[in-house]
Amino acid sequence: MSIFVEDLSYEGENKKKILKNVNFKINTGEYCFFIGETGSGKTTILEILMGLLPGNGVEIFGKELFNKKNKRSIQKNISYVFQRCEAQFFETTVEKEIKISGDLRKAVEILNLLSLDYDEIKGKSPFELSGGEKRKLAITIALLKNPKILLLDEPTIGLDGRSSAELMEFLWKLNKEGLTIIQTTHIMEEVMNYATKTLVIKDGEVVYDGKDVFKEKILLNRCRLDIPFERRLLDGLAEKGINLKGEEVEKFLLEKLC
Ligand SMILES: Nc1ncnc2c1ncn2[C@@H]1O[C@H](COP(=O)(O)OP(=O)(O)O)[C@@H](O)[C@H]1O
Ligand SMILES: [Mg+2]
Repeated sequence: MSIFVEDLSYEGENKKKILKNVNFKINTGEYCFFIGETGSGKTTILEILMGLLPGNGVEIFGKELFNKKNKRSIQKNISYVFQRCEAQFFETTVEKEIKISGDLRKAVEILNLLSLDYDEIKGKSPFELSGGEKRKLAITIALLKNPKILLLDEPTIGLDGRSSAELMEFLWKLNKEGLTIIQTTHIMEEVMNYATKTLVIKDGEVVYDGKDVFKEKILLNRCRLDIPFERRLLDGLAEKGINLKGEEVEKFLLEKLC
């Protein structure tokens, strides 16, 4: 098991209860999504898992994270890409930023897979890149330390449709190769296509923990989360005895309707 969280609570300023008795386990190799309304506590959990905010009852790789003896060695194996990913940049050029972070050749390879040409951006300041380019650079840098766990806070925000699909396919491949990923998102299609596990967070509590969150219509509605159109269509067809896979539905509809 990678992560074991037991009875985690967190208070913000003015003793505001931000997390309330949170419990969950995430196995090695899982692609886990945290979903829930803005302000529900998703980022706070990621920051505690990275050891950036204090916590209790967090075990990672079988060791207590908030024990001075373990924290550094655990953190070496986890990477975190902030929602405001430019907060992670320090250098004046992309080239310098990459060189202080790890192997340049590996970085160029990853950037290529993300459709970013290193030669075109190497002389630029990381801060003058577009939103999507910044995010791709931040993810590349996060991967240079060969983490066992990757934490991503809304990584597809600000990416155009094609870039976001490419990034998700790239992350999915890394996950298939064994990387444990925890990602927050507001895009329910990402959850539908890639989640092996989903946690729904509401007002600082885990209100769902399972494999197929889109079965939980009432709960999703209460948490103001939508079921993707494709899933609603597939479920509706299945209720009428027509069992299709996602990729079959377009052909089926065209044949029926045209
Ligand atoms: N530094 C902070 N001090 C006090 N409250 C905070 C701080 N950061 C976040 N919060 C509050 O904690 C709650 C959870 O925030 P957050 O974890 O960012 O939620 P999410 O990522 O789900 O949008 C929100 O009510 C937010 O206003
Ligand atoms: Mg957040």
